[in-house]
Amino acid sequence: MIPALPISRRGFLRGLGATTAATMLPRLAQAGNNTFEPDFLWGVATSAPESESRANRGRSNWDVFIDNIGGSKDGTTNVRNTEFDTRYLDEFKLLQAAGVKAFRFSFAWPRIQPETPGAPNVRGLDHYDRMIDAMLEHGLEPVPTLFHWDIPLWAGDFLDRDISRRMADYAEIMARMVGDRANTWLVFNEPGVIPIFGYGQGLFAPGYRSRRYMGAALHHVNLAHGRALTAIRANAASGTRVSSAFNIMPFEAPSGTDEDIQAARFVDVLWNDAVPGPAYGRDYPSLALPLVESYIQDGDMQAIAVQPDFFGLNFYSRSFVKADPDSPLGIALVEPPAELERTDELPYDPDTYTKVLLKAHKDYNAPDIIATEFGFPVAEEAPKDGWVNDPLRIKYMRGYIQAAQAAYQQGVKLKGMFYWSSTDNWEWVLGLSKHFGLIHIEQPSLKRIPKRSLEYYANCIRLNAPA
Ligand code: FCB
Repeated sequence: MIPALPISRRGFLRGLGATTAATMLPRLAQAGNNTFEPDFLWGVATSAPESESRANRGRSNWDVFIDNIGGSKDGTTNVRNTEFDTRYLDEFKLLQAAGVKAFRFSFAWPRIQPETPGAPNVRGLDHYDRMIDAMLEHGLEPVPTLFHWDIPLWAGDFLDRDISRRMADYAEIMARMVGDRANTWLVFNEPGVIPIFGYGQGLFAPGYRSRRYMGAALHHVNLAHGRALTAIRANAASGTRVSSAFNIMPFEAPSGTDEDIQAARFVDVLWNDAVPGPAYGRDYPSLALPLVESYIQDGDMQAIAVQPDFFGLNFYSRSFVKADPDSPLGIALVEPPAELERTDELPYDPDTYTKVLLKAHKDYNAPDIIATEFGFPVAEEAPKDGWVNDPLRIKYMRGYIQAAQAAYQQGVKLKGMFYWSSTDNWEWVLGLSKHFGLIHIEQPSLKRIPKRSLEYYANCIRLNAPA
């Protein structure tokens, strides 16, 4: 049953000020054959560790990490987050009114197996059971991510190859529970980021700074990815499509010196190729092989080569670096070229987005692609009359949706786009100060207030094209 909305869809659109039916009609006509396919999946993306509170779950690697470093940059922690675990209905109502079609979220492994391996915690299962039913009741197709970086403490970390077995057990539990209601699954969020930021650079949990650990974690992430994906395929309904959200970020060395170019090349391969490549049946790239070869055992590469059913692609921007022998990764960040506009601190990079989509199309044999994340942190005005004004976000969204459309028009099989994120949330070590959301979270009440960018997204969805 669809619960009554606080405002009808028509009321929502009327409340959207500039977007009256009259102004929308000419745009609809303009869109013409520039539209995406009719079943294009317009979605928003979220994750449990950035939005759910710590209540009713076991302690996680991220709880330990953030408590040990004394909180995020802005002094916040993930204790409360946006309390999505109890307030999700407020969000679903706004998303339904905007016509959003799909909702990407993650299961918190520490809620499912809080203290021990084996039988799942019924309370945790019930939580996701109810949440998924609520999505469906609000017209949102559930797109679960099995693993968005939060590990229950008992399960250890990626230095241990057996984490892949624990991950596969957890995958089986979840696929059995919701495999009949979710048609599109992501196994890992940004698997390649885990070894690099968590084990190499020490920026994310568990906070190691070691090239050797980075190599071990890279191979064990790949193994866990392969085994968990296979477990989902074996236990979800037939026809389920499974992949991961791979972060693609080209690295460049603006100085142009040989040393800097080589350093950029190494990290580019590690970041962009060393996870999806083996998942699609390739050997490790030669630049990454020395890091992982001592960890590879018989049968591993076959277990890893699962051939995902589509390519999940997260894109934010390019990265600019120089060589730095003191860093485990061999690079340090440098300022982006001055001519690139910034969204807060990230470069705004639509042309690169088109190129990245075309490259994935070519490199992975023309797969279906779902843009599993794109998004922008921007400074915005305080809420006024029930809305937050965020014109810059709208400008950037339009640029990236147009960039994706350009790739689509050149033959990329783009099947959907997910904006990161539904609400402002707890952005890991950066805390609550980075606002990515289409919905503002008022502090300390945690009330949900729509932004004008949600209204803009509603227009794109209605047009099935960039508005
Ligand atoms: C992505 C992560 C997501 C969030 C956004 C801003 O790289 O997948 O969890 O941090 O960046």
